[in-house]
Amino acid sequence: MRLSPIDPSSYSNAHELIVRHVDLDWTVNFENSTLSGTVSLHFKTLKDDIEEIFLDANELSIASMVVKTTAGEVPLNWDVGSYVENIGSKLTIYLPMKTSGEFTVRIEYETSPKASALQWLTAEQTFGKKHPYLFSQCQAIHARSIVPCQDTPAVKFTYNATLHYPQGVTGLMSAVKTKSDPGVSYFHQSIPIPSYLLAIVVGALVEKPIGPISSVWAEQEQVDEAAEEFSQTAEFIAKAEEICGPYVWGRYDLLVMPPSFPFGGMENPCLTFVTPTLLAGDKSLATVVAHEIAHSWTGNLVTNKNFEHFWLNEGFTVFVEGKIVGRLFGNTSRDFHSLHGLSELTDCIKTQLASTPALTKLVVDLSECSPDDAFSTVPYIKGSTFLRYLEDLLGGPEKFEPFFRSYLNKFKNQSIMTNEFKKALYDWFREDPSNEEYLERIDWDRWLFGEGMPPVIPNYDRTLLDACQKHAKLWAENELEIVASSPILSETLSSIQVIEFLAQLLEKKTLKDLTAEKIALLDKTYRIHETKNAEIRFRFVRLFIRARMMDKMDEILTFLNSNFRMKFVRPIYKELAGWPEARPIAIDNYKKVKDQMMSVCAYTVSKDLGIADNSN
Ligand code: BES
Ligand code: ZN
Repeated sequence: MRLSPIDPSSYSNAHELIVRHVDLDWTVNFENSTLSGTVSLHFKTLKDDIEEIFLDANELSIASMVVKTTAGEVPLNWDVGSYVENIGSKLTIYLPMKTSGEFTVRIEYETSPKASALQWLTAEQTFGKKHPYLFSQCQAIHARSIVPCQDTPAVKFTYNATLHYPQGVTGLMSAVKTKSDPGVSYFHQSIPIPSYLLAIVVGALVEKPIGPISSVWAEQEQVDEAAEEFSQTAEFIAKAEEICGPYVWGRYDLLVMPPSFPFGGMENPCLTFVTPTLLAGDKSLATVVAHEIAHSWTGNLVTNKNFEHFWLNEGFTVFVEGKIVGRLFGNTSRDFHSLHGLSELTDCIKTQLASTPALTKLVVDLSECSPDDAFSTVPYIKGSTFLRYLEDLLGGPEKFEPFFRSYLNKFKNQSIMTNEFKKALYDWFREDPSNEEYLERIDWDRWLFGEGMPPVIPNYDRTLLDACQKHAKLWAENELEIVASSPILSETLSSIQVIEFLAQLLEKKTLKDLTAEKIALLDKTYRIHETKNAEIRFRFVRLFIRARMMDKMDEILTFLNSNFRMKFVRPIYKELAGWPEARPIAIDNYKKVKDQMMSVCAYTVSKDLGIADNSN
């Protein structure tokens, strides 16, 4: 079912009227895990004589509602429709008369303690153990659980917020802080944003400057380590500006989240949220920060109109991320980064999406599927591969980057669909008739709507990948003695290469002689026990599962409970579910820890375990 003509995942009638500005006044109640207060939605109608407003709401308790007109405040009637899983409810507001132009609706309400966008941690669950902690994750469609809104990226609004919270903690939002007194802060976001970029965090946070417009925020215990890990932030921003144009958001701060943050990073404007699993000690995972920085243009300025066109956010962002990597570390690294992406995509298509091939299309149909269920690396990797294909086809970076900047400039502060990108590309490149023959070669239908791996794999530099492949082949095809005496073992691999090498190994159909001794040698050779790199640990743990090493179950569970980042926990649970002896242990562990997970993680893992209906 398509809930609205613009967006299958939103009830809003955003084709009739849109929110231009939002004023929030929130009180953070740690005692009962709620946000309470008011939201004022400043509407502008797109057609005359509007009588009803449809908004999205997810388990909100609404106390009162008024419309503000020049004549004063008039109370409003409203109706909350039936609850639909993953989607929430349609909130219908009845205007007292046919209305055109601009007007404001103020809603007094409170969130549910189970609001899907929020995670409430007790003091005990934090590092410092002294203060409770609250954070949000609104993308894709969870903003409706913290504010009644047009929860579609088709609509963008500026916002002001007043935030009240207990003294002794710090409150931050996806905006610039304009003023702060003990227990209250004021924020302003002057650039129009989609609802999914609303964000809030409250906790015992400290700040350490890491660049001219950047600080890292974390609990005291992690702030120095984080400042070191993310010391390249200013360089990433500088390179991103070379590629995309000026950075317009004023500040770029980073917030290191608690381990239950379900993603690697989230591009909340002015304040990117990142998982603590990036703290590898050697900056080897800092490209996630380059990715979130790139979103400052691709996604946050030029935004997908709905999540069927999510690749316009993520594919474009991975493409820019690759360019940042290329400019800082060279094109061999850029290409290796892309090749690593392709091996993640292969894995994802074969495992996560094996039973839902329609989700391997670049542009997906979300009329029967929530964005959380559709989420995968496909829009990221197939999308960025498509852009790289186009760049190579149309004359390389020299020709493509000017187009790319013009595209960003043309659609900034707007929300678009794939066709608008396609048209902009044709408009630009048709200026030169010699491009025509190349434009004709693009098989849009296959790229956008074909299933499986990308139809064309660009001609990447494979130098860094070859080494990984050589190691993977050695370990997969030979017995322990031969591996142990191979000269290949003396060639060292970088952390990122070890990640890829392990990924390659996991891709192999048969792994010869995968015994405890062999795994011990592997551990020793690549110093896996010493590493803090979560991407390496993740793949090593999957190797234990592959080798059916029941005696490693404690280690598997330790990793599984050390963070609730979906990229790591979902595949592990899924693989444990497919190992009959381990399945009950995995289910048991899940039940023990699921209350510490964010709801989107608990929900998706229960599906991966095949217990979605009876356990949530
Ligand atoms: N915007 C995404 C995270 C997201 C997507 C949250 C959809 C909710 C719904 C973010 O920019 C992202 O892509 N993060 C990646 C890291 C990146 C380097 C691929 C992640 O979380 O792993
Ligand atoms: Zn992203």
